[in-house]
Amino acid sequence: MGQIDSILNKESLTREDIVYLLKAEGEEKTRLFEASQMVKSQYVGKRVYFRGLIEFSNICSKNCYYCGIRKANQKAERYNLTDDEILDAVRFAYENRYGSVVLQGGELSSPAFTRRISGLLRRIQEISKGTLGVTLSLGEQPEEVYREWLENGAHRYLLRIEASNRQLYQKLHPHDDIHNYDRRLESLKTLQEVGYQTGTGVMIGVPFQRWDDLADDLIFMRDFDIDMVGMGPYIEHKDTPLYPYRDQLASEEERFQLTLKMIAILRIMMKDINIAAATALQAIDPLGREKALKIGANVIMPNVTPGMYRNNYKLYENKPCTDEEAADCTNCLDVRISMVGDEIAYGERGDPKHFFKRVEKSAQ
Ligand code: 5AD
Ligand code: SF4
Ligand code: FES
Repeated sequence: MGQIDSILNKESLTREDIVYLLKAEGEEKTRLFEASQMVKSQYVGKRVYFRGLIEFSNICSKNCYYCGIRKANQKAERYNLTDDEILDAVRFAYENRYGSVVLQGGELSSPAFTRRISGLLRRIQEISKGTLGVTLSLGEQPEEVYREWLENGAHRYLLRIEASNRQLYQKLHPHDDIHNYDRRLESLKTLQEVGYQTGTGVMIGVPFQRWDDLADDLIFMRDFDIDMVGMGPYIEHKDTPLYPYRDQLASEEERFQLTLKMIAILRIMMKDINIAAATALQAIDPLGREKALKIGANVIMPNVTPGMYRNNYKLYENKPCTDEEAADCTNCLDVRISMVGDEIAYGERGDPKHFFKRVEKSAQ
């Protein structure tokens, strides 16, 4: 058991160390998970934060090769919630003492869209008397748009880098101006600079991805000083250009295990950030999110989108809870989370400690 322990005792992990940990099996894998569990209990504790996820529209201007709601997929039935429907979901989250909501939608950019989101943000502040945390997940936007939304009450933003390796990014996206790696990286930097709690993430087990890429993804998150991470297994969708590569993929179980290891290693590398137990984990294993909480994650994003729309926000196949209503998920999660020995931090925003330390550091 020599090598694994000496890696786990290191102050800072190298790419080679991370690859070694990603390949850990049997007893070594158990050691990795014990170590990440220890870090979690020491630095973030048992408290799990809820983010009520509102997938308010699946209309998207982009054509990412992996995604089921890409613009060119004519089979996707498009929807766009009304403001009232969105605000009902917000009220549900607030009344059920979720600490935060996440507004997620396909990527759109226009003055009308910017205004719509700003209006919603102001209403969310009114409804929750300024107490509800608000995360946006609306893709790449100009700096002034990010600023406007921040001023209107958003304070966290999720923008997955998807693949930190430029070549891999290019294999997963069309080669044009709007699917540009540099543009994505710039957007992420801008979010951090204008003052958001900044989140990113990657897909795990996508075609063409190598061990080194996954290790570099974690190093990217560390070097970027990211505050929050959501990463999940890639799950193929039949109406996408990447579907023909499905024969090259690791099995779903392998992708699932790899995701757990990525989360565990990241928890060891970045002790005080927020890590979400991605919903895609549950698409593979009914207890997927609970397993992620056990080994390092501390955030869960219950879907509070009105039930009748859930089936249409299909980024990947087998998406869970598409037949449920928000209240079903709350009850279900209460039981599930206590099962793994954690507790839900009802009514708390759950800002990552890392963010405040980062801001303090940059002010010095
Ligand atoms: N499998 C897993 N995750 C996916 N996403 C998009 N398509 C898939 C897929 N087929 C993820 C992307 C995106 C997030 C909203 O959903 O990482 O950033
Ligand atoms: Fe649009 Fe996001 Fe899907 Fe890309 S991953 S096609 S930006 S919804
Ligand atoms: Fe949605 Fe269990 S979390 S039904």
